[in-house]
Amino acid sequence: MSARRDHPMFGPNPFKLGVFNANCDGGLTISRAPERWPARWDDIVELAKLCDRTGIEFILPVAKWRGFGGAANNLGRSFETLTHGAALAAVTERIAIFSTIHVPLVTPAFAAKALATIDHVSHGRAGLNIVCGWNQDEFDQHGVTIDPERRYDQGLEWFRIFARMLEGGAPFDWDGEFYKLKGLVTDPLSVQRPWPVVMSAGFSPKGRGFAAQSADVLFTTMTEIDQGKGLVDNVRAHAAKYDRRIDLYTMSHAVCRPSRKEAEDFYYYFAEEMADRDSLDYYKRQKGLTSTSDPRYIDRPLMTRFSRATGKSYSGSYPGAYPLVGTPDDLVEEFQRMHGLGLAGTSISFLDYLKEMPFFVAEVMPRMVKAGLRVG
Ligand SMILES: Cc1cc2nc3c(=O)[nH]c(=O)nc-3n(C[C@H](O)[C@H](O)[C@H](O)COP(=O)(O)O)c2cc1C
Repeated sequence: MSARRDHPMFGPNPFKLGVFNANCDGGLTISRAPERWPARWDDIVELAKLCDRTGIEFILPVAKWRGFGGAANNLGRSFETLTHGAALAAVTERIAIFSTIHVPLVTPAFAAKALATIDHVSHGRAGLNIVCGWNQDEFDQHGVTIDPERRYDQGLEWFRIFARMLEGGAPFDWDGEFYKLKGLVTDPLSVQRPWPVVMSAGFSPKGRGFAAQSADVLFTTMTEIDQGKGLVDNVRAHAAKYDRRIDLYTMSHAVCRPSRKEAEDFYYYFAEEMADRDSLDYYKRQKGLTSTSDPRYIDRPLMTRFSRATGKSYSGSYPGAYPLVGTPDDLVEEFQRMHGLGLAGTSISFLDYLKEMPFFVAEVMPRMVKAGLRVG
């Protein structure tokens, strides 16, 4: 039996890091740049081992069933996250391995058994990222319709069944609004008790309400650093209603180079010159169909300190991914600001993870230790 406190997400580093989206081609970009991440399995394993060795806290795959079209069809190639998780759990030793599950596509009993499997393979390092779905085109492959108004209500019922199954005990029936199930039981239970660490990824008020009742970690978006404080306060207020506390993470895209000019030029190259605008249009169109957030959220220009400086919009930057662009010192400064706002950590993605990560590990991580953001 393992207590949750042994899980990497609750380890000693004040500011935690994870690698996001490496199971998909293009990573967290909407770019046609030929240097983009090809998502080859052997590279994914090498990346996972590198992250494991260097103390990165988590690997988080995106749940995806089709690409965004356009010239590059970004995210068109993707590894399924439960099988990806089991495989990576077997070749790593310390890092948390999340699996991202679409609630309407996987039954709670299937998820409970799969997560328990990964938790045993990893000796207590599994994590579940719950997503309720947004792209109807993906769900059409499964014959399932997304209900934007009720998806988080279904998610909550789903989570309650999942959690109760992993608590163990006698078989039980469930007679709910979305699920009518008989004889629910699972064995083995997860190594982590009472169930593996739960993350949820979302942005809207409904998404925050869902996370407040189910998740240990809310993974959300922030494009302006000044949004951070309001975000943290708002999420904490949601959790307080249920007498709970959840850690907040954001997602970032890192372009780190010895000089700021090199970093900004490269960012400009892949995220502006090589932006796949058809792909971005597809994303916005699909997002708009199911979003319950303020429409300005989908269409808002990504005005970061880089776009403000150049007046360019950087359409090839993934919407909502905070751009960490600059020297190692610049990145550490950004992490300090995020930490100061109360964020527990961020995910990082790279245009080419394996090529760019060693520089990050060698130059940024030791500076984070010096800055008190990490213990080593
Ligand atoms: C940081 C982050 C990561 C996400 N990862 C996924 C994912 O892997 N697969 C997916 O289908 N949706 C993903 N989503 C979409 C959300 O799960 C959710 O469906 C979408 O954001 C709409 O809900 P919202 O209105 O609460 O934001 C992600 C969202 C965020 C903010």
